Amino acid sequence: MKAAVVRAYGGPDVVRIETLPAPVPRNGRVGISVVAAAVTRGDARIRAAEAPAGLSAGLRLAFGLRRPRQPILGMVFSGRLAEAAAGLPAGARVFGNTGMAMGAHAEELTVDPGRILPIPDSLCDVDAAALFFGGLTAADFLIDKAGIGPGARLLINGASGEVGCAALQIARFHGAEITAVCRAENHDLVRDLGAHHAHDYRDGAPKGQWDLVMDIAGTLPWKQAEALLAPGGTLLPVTASLGAMIGAMLRANRKGQRRISGTTSADGPAAMRRVLDLHSRGALRPVVGATIPFESIETAHALAESGHKRGSVVVTI
Ligand SMILES: NC(=O)c1ccc[n+]([C@@H]2O[C@H](COP(=O)([O-])OP(=O)(O)OC[C@H]3O[C@@H](n4cnc5c(N)ncnc54)[C@H](OP(=O)(O)O)[C@@H]3O)[C@@H](O)[C@H]2O)c1
Repeated sequence: MKAAVVRAYGGPDVVRIETLPAPVPRNGRVGISVVAAAVTRGDARIRAAEAPAGLSAGLRLAFGLRRPRQPILGMVFSGRLAEAAAGLPAGARVFGNTGMAMGAHAEELTVDPGRILPIPDSLCDVDAAALFFGGLTAADFLIDKAGIGPGARLLINGASGEVGCAALQIARFHGAEITAVCRAENHDLVRDLGAHHAHDYRDGAPKGQWDLVMDIAGTLPWKQAEALLAPGGTLLPVTASLGAMIGAMLRANRKGQRRISGTTSADGPAAMRRVLDLHSRGALRPVVGATIPFESIETAHALAESGHKRGSVVVTI
């Protein structure tokens, strides 16, 4: 099979297409012929061993000290079942999320059957590959961690990317009043997805106070983010340096305000079903900003690490 392989940490040009033996499903895993896979900011971070300040050593411990232990990146994908499994026939259209196992940037993949679901007719293969990365992260931070509810005033810093596009829609579904921060050229997109107000960060910091401040871009300095919090508000640094994470833990509850950082903890089967349910109820649709042929996956990596992509970048395999 053809696979996009990362043999050394580095820029987008370290990603090479190689011909490798196809993985053999073992230990109850199922084989998938991959049709499309997202190249996420997470993939770009692992490929470059680049993380927010203080977290690069942790990234290497988790994924490999000198090079990625799993050289085939890619967590979220759509494809066809190689054999009947998980109550589905061979050839069924499925999509899923490998979690830390990765391996989706290849023609063939093996995966835990609990981590795949049938693709609903409402999603094409490309869109299906783009549902879970942003959907799982946004649902976990907004619903589980923050308990978002009707009328909550929410500021999303970094609203037009993969996580932001999902956060906007999930917050709209829960009745929040949303201010989106991104460049003006993306304001039409974020208003379409649910933002009531839009602010361009190049015009300076947004002015006002919010019940929830979700910093997806990780560009709000700590003091500035705290100043944007209303009394009783909650700060959600989705991207945070080690210092900010420790600060959030030490000051988790202070002056009636909460600070909740960390990684997405809900990304397994139940969380995936919740994201699919949000989609089925018309609350969440994937936003694909670029579809790129697998052979040009280097271009997809460059876009993913730019910090300015619209929604998701998907490679077709
Ligand atoms: N904690 C977790 O478990 C978890 C899970 C998933 C992702 N993440 C992190 O979340 C971050 C975003 O992921 P993503 O996939 O949504 O990224 P993305 O698709 O690259 O989107 C980046 C967003 O940030 C905006 N942005 C860029 N510079 C900005 C600035 N100076 N101020 C405000 N906004 C700015 C961009 O808007 P413009 O294009 O208009 O500039 C865009 O809306 C990444 O750092 C990723 O590692 C964390």
